[in-house]
Amino acid sequence: MAQQEDLLKKIIAHAKEYGFVFPSSDIYDGLSAVYDYGPNGVELKKNIRNYWWKAMVQMHENIVGLDAAIFMHPTIWKASGHVDAFSDPLIDNKDSKKRYRADVLVEDYLAKIEAKINKEVTKARKRFGESFDEKQFQETNPRVVANRQKMEEIKARLYPAMDRSDMAAIKQLIEDLGIADPVSGSKNWTDVRQFNLMFSTQMGSTADGASEIYLRPETAQGIFVNYLNVQKTSRMKIPFGIAQTGKAFRNEIVARQFIFRMREFEQMEMQFFVRPGTEMEWYKSWKEKRMNWHLSTGIPAEKFRFHDHDKLAHYANAATDIEFEFPMGFKELEGIHSRTNFDLSAHEKYSGKKLRYFDSEINESYVPYVIETSIGLDRMFLAILSNAYTEENLEGGTQRIVMKLPPFLAPYKIAVFPLTKKDGLPEKAREVMDNLKSDFMCFYEEKDTIGKRYRRHDAIGTPYCITVDHQTLEDNTVTLRERDSMKQERIPMNEISGIVAKSLTQNNQGL
Ligand code: GAP
Repeated sequence: MAQQEDLLKKIIAHAKEYGFVFPSSDIYDGLSAVYDYGPNGVELKKNIRNYWWKAMVQMHENIVGLDAAIFMHPTIWKASGHVDAFSDPLIDNKDSKKRYRADVLVEDYLAKIEAKINKEVTKARKRFGESFDEKQFQETNPRVVANRQKMEEIKARLYPAMDRSDMAAIKQLIEDLGIADPVSGSKNWTDVRQFNLMFSTQMGSTADGASEIYLRPETAQGIFVNYLNVQKTSRMKIPFGIAQTGKAFRNEIVARQFIFRMREFEQMEMQFFVRPGTEMEWYKSWKEKRMNWHLSTGIPAEKFRFHDHDKLAHYANAATDIEFEFPMGFKELEGIHSRTNFDLSAHEKYSGKKLRYFDSEINESYVPYVIETSIGLDRMFLAILSNAYTEENLEGGTQRIVMKLPPFLAPYKIAVFPLTKKDGLPEKAREVMDNLKSDFMCFYEEKDTIGKRYRRHDAIGTPYCITVDHQTLEDNTVTLRERDSMKQERIPMNEISGIVAKSLTQNNQGL
């Protein structure tokens, strides 16, 4: 675990040093859980966003895009349940002055019991070897059975208390379990209280009678309230989807772990509108498609897993998370939810407008059911970055850090170097650059040795470096060096474009 946390620290430092991600307001010592994307970060982020957009909108004739405003009518957040229920239970430790999410303290306690069970299973597997029957062991080993039962008892107290918003019961549970502050070990807790995660501000001047409005905590509601506008103007027939990317804001209680949990972040969401009764088949289909999208980035399958929810939100009849193995362990990357007709029905009620769709195939009007796929762009960025970050020991005892990004996501595709700054080599290298830059993001560099320039581009993931030397002046050939293999080959200048373009091909199968 310490090694993994170490990896996260290295990634954070690397991201800052190489212009991927900076703490916001850095010269003022940062702003908690807010980050800025630097020149390389903004390119990588844009490429991930475009790749998602391509998979959702370009690859599906029945999905179209939307860019709704961040500010929305305040009643929308009443209808969606965010005003009343988008809150987390908060608790402070009186001694350490640290703040926690009360439910997370209990969930961490549950995770420790689960870890004990897993340890027993691993030990038993080693002892029994081939003949080990895990199911039987889980059902009969007294320690495992007792621990499972304990977990069930805790869950049976936690989740109903959360549903009832019974803060006193959650506090009692923390006390009964003897949960201590992970930092100080103190058990001196305040009461638990609800904390709404929405940021609010005023719209209009006070003289006009300013009204309180919210920064959207999810992009989805912009899609729901526009669904008929989009359906009519794009002549969509059910089943159809609306995709949107954009900023969302949440005043997270505990915001650690770099860009994993931020107070200002970006979501990429798609709502798929279906005929009631068909939602489970679409839910299954979107689960599969979204996993295929993740795998199409080239990240190994063992880094992903589904976590199907046992406990469903009041508006959902099925939900799963796609979890990714971040440096901090497996955590939610994307949510796929079958949201029934909850949101649209609530907006019908609160707006007084009909949000029905007339289905001419069955001659019926209804409020569509919705399957939602919702992924955090910043989390995907962290997944891509942490999978790509590689420390390599090279021959001769040196080391390099290389970002093994899929070429189509890399900030720059080509770096162009003249071998030296004289003899007309920079002019020739500029000619190469000018021929390529309208098709690819290219970077021109003439400072430092070629070796140092290679290292800098390894560190930001540039798949190809091209060196222009004296021979180029004679025969128009250049040296092409590939990032991962570090292989160099001499090729004619006019072949660069074809080679690079081929490496950018994406696998769109199954998307
Ligand atoms: N419309 C559904 C929705 O917003 P969610 O599970 O709350 O569902 C969806 O959020 C995704 O947004 C998450 O899977 C995660 O990737 C991302 N996300 C949520 N909160 C975030 C935060 N504070 N910082 C970064 N990403 C976040």
